[in-house]
Amino acid sequence: MTGARHNALRDALARSREASTGSRLDAETFLGLRDLIAGASGIDFDENSRYIVERRLMPRLRALRIDDFAAYYRTLLFGEDRAGEIERLLEAVTIRETYFFRESAQLLALRDDVLPDLVAENAASKTIRIWSAGCASGEEPYSVAMLLGTQPAIKGWDVRIFGTDLVPSAVEAARAGVYRDVALRATSDDKRELYFEHEAANVWRLDESVRQRVTIESRNLFDGAPDGTGPFDVILCRNVLLYFGDAARRRAVDVFHDSLREGGWLLLGHAESLLSMRTPFRLVHLGRDVVYRK
Ligand SMILES: C[S@@+](CC[C@H](N)C(=O)[O-])C[C@H]1O[C@@H](n2cnc3c(N)ncnc32)[C@H](O)[C@@H]1O
Repeated sequence: MTGARHNALRDALARSREASTGSRLDAETFLGLRDLIAGASGIDFDENSRYIVERRLMPRLRALRIDDFAAYYRTLLFGEDRAGEIERLLEAVTIRETYFFRESAQLLALRDDVLPDLVAENAASKTIRIWSAGCASGEEPYSVAMLLGTQPAIKGWDVRIFGTDLVPSAVEAARAGVYRDVALRATSDDKRELYFEHEAANVWRLDESVRQRVTIESRNLFDGAPDGTGPFDVILCRNVLLYFGDAARRRAVDVFHDSLREGGWLLLGHAESLLSMRTPFRLVHLGRDVVYRK
């Protein structure tokens, strides 16, 4: 079979598959959207994720009264509000699932194993700088603030915690500090009592004293931490890199390496590891968890 005939047959097959599955996002437009998403965020949708992308973007097409993905793609490339629409695209495709005290063994390792080290190393400056990159609605940096806030060893220290996320609506939620029951599913009764006001059924307001200790900003992690905030003693980037492609993961690790002080700590999520890539970090086994160190 000639190359042209082969391509025509393949395209016809793809069209009939699309028709039989009712897919409205054709393969070519999917590839364009996929590249756009990866370029703007690092998030990598593989070949099998076309229907996921389609499902997540359908509400956006309906809101814009566009009934064709190719037209939506053109809006993203050439529309008047291109930047705004890319923001809404990322809002639609990112997974922002999070909750307080998620992967708590690691947070306790931060408090019990890493903090004593920071106390010894930073005794002269009495400062600690922590960055939660990809913090979604803020539960992660606020959990760190709650855990470290009661530690006598750093009483009176200048402890600054920064949370950043790509999606502005997540950042707004983080700043508002109001949460639903589901966000507190791993929060103990005594912490609820100490740090939250139960405003109404399914509405919990985080105490101002915790919110004050965390600065939240909208930011792409590839742009590094907010200006004037580093170098950091600890960076948490948990449940973010698992959605990235290899190249983006490598770039992110370089950003973190540049942003940490010598001997600084990098905490990734349990489903993430740097084992498959060459990295300048050392793996460190703590009592309760495994973390990385510059
Ligand atoms: C699943 S949440 C993880 C939240 C929290 N770190 C945790 O472990 O519970 C992933 C977050 O990463 C954010 N994200 C994805 N790509 C990003 C990027 N390039 N820069 C900053 N944030 C990003 C998403 O918007 C989302 O809120």
